[in-house]
Amino acid sequence: MPTRTRNAVVVGAQWGDEGKGRVVDLISEKFDIIARFQGGSNAGHTIMLKDKKFVLHHIPCGVLRKNKVSIIGNGMVVDLETLVEEIKNLKKSGFQITNRNLKISSLAHLILPYHKSLDIGREALKGSSAIGTTGRGIGPAYEDKIARQGIRIIDIAHKKTLKAKLQLVLKEKNKILNKVFNKPTFKIEKMISSLSKNYRYIKEFVSNTEEYLNNQTRKNKKILFEGAQGAMLDVDFGTYPFVTSSSTIAGGASVGTGVPFSSLGTVVGISKAYTTRVGHGPFPTEMFDNQGLLLREFGTEYGATTGRPRRCGWLDLIALKHSIQISGIDSLVLTKVDVLSMFETVKVCVGYQIKNKKITTFPLSLDDLGIVKPIYKEFDSWTLEEVVSSKKIPKNLNMFIKFIEKFLSTPISMISVGPERDQIVYL
Ligand code: GDP
Ligand code: IMO
Ligand code: MG
Repeated sequence: MPTRTRNAVVVGAQWGDEGKGRVVDLISEKFDIIARFQGGSNAGHTIMLKDKKFVLHHIPCGVLRKNKVSIIGNGMVVDLETLVEEIKNLKKSGFQITNRNLKISSLAHLILPYHKSLDIGREALKGSSAIGTTGRGIGPAYEDKIARQGIRIIDIAHKKTLKAKLQLVLKEKNKILNKVFNKPTFKIEKMISSLSKNYRYIKEFVSNTEEYLNNQTRKNKKILFEGAQGAMLDVDFGTYPFVTSSSTIAGGASVGTGVPFSSLGTVVGISKAYTTRVGHGPFPTEMFDNQGLLLREFGTEYGATTGRPRRCGWLDLIALKHSIQISGIDSLVLTKVDVLSMFETVKVCVGYQIKNKKITTFPLSLDDLGIVKPIYKEFDSWTLEEVVSSKKIPKNLNMFIKFIEKFLSTPISMISVGPERDQIVYL
């Protein structure tokens, strides 16, 4: 597909944890700036660098490379405590973090302690209907943004404004926490003092990133937008209400950074060669048998942020087709192809059976999604030696790839056969 700029957007095409961090780390070499545009500390993007593991929550995965600028965009919700820890950890590992290579939008909203408390309280109240959130306060923080009572990073610098805003919002929050959730309330002084302390640490990075990005675009610098979560967790197009609270699709990159839509460039979708999901909600191809457990163990499918075991299942091409459409994905990267080598045969879902009818589009109603039965096509698998030792694609894997490309009318540009930078095959 022709694109108007040399920029690119990397987005998850499933329910998150597809390996976006790993891919961004790899391809960021070819970009000048890497920008996150939504989500916050719910994200956990893993990079393996010579056996050392880095998990990033707010900071883009280009930060491990020299001479790249990392942007925390206006569309993100930021937990200052976690962010400060993230910066300190990177510095401890020997990475230079300065205001030249890390820039934080002054317009990004804050995740405050009452957001986390409300997130956890609400989940507990929902009982078996809980979403299974990460408990990081994401939903309540985005709610306040939309309700026009959020606190932004820019507010911390203006003590009077900060106090006035917090006073107003705490009146409501403390009442809800106390009366509805029977939880402790929050004191304004303690909150301001903690915010000020963390702000002193990040102050040097805070700026007008929207203007910076647009200026750099005019100078022909290349921007890589790094999505968090995945299209199936999108607040509009995902499996609502079992979703996150932001626009996880490529379109979110524009509103979440202030870079015009026409400058976003090509869209790269990341998908595992199978499917995983953390938290609750529909998952048509989920495996409940021993094979599912094997997949979890062999693929080390445990959440990078919460450590929760991920639910595992076969690759769902119907869900992927939906993601490709709404995110405008131009090409796909298939990750964890090595993991499937543990099976003799592997399956992909090519349709759903619903009340004696076959459908090939993703149902919008959760009631329908709850009763669909996946229709599978089976393939002979490949061996681990075949995929990791040679850069040639084994015959069975080639058939698997070709089938997926044809079914989705979308090219697969790379396959990932391990978590390390060089464990990649370009197609
Ligand atoms: P993200 O949230 O999309 O960045 O993905 P996560 O970091 O949460 O989860 C992906 C996990 O898979 C991480 O532990 C990666 O190190 C690992 N990983 C990524 N690509 C591959 C691959 O091709 N093979 C294997 N075995 N592991 C991979
Ligand atoms: P990355 O960027 C996988 C899931 C949670 C829950 C739902 C809502 O690492 O791919 P939230 O805390 O956002 O309100 O939780 O979304 N979720 C993720 N699942 N990867 C993520 O991020 C996720 N971020 C949120 O498990 O089901
Ligand atoms: Mg993750």
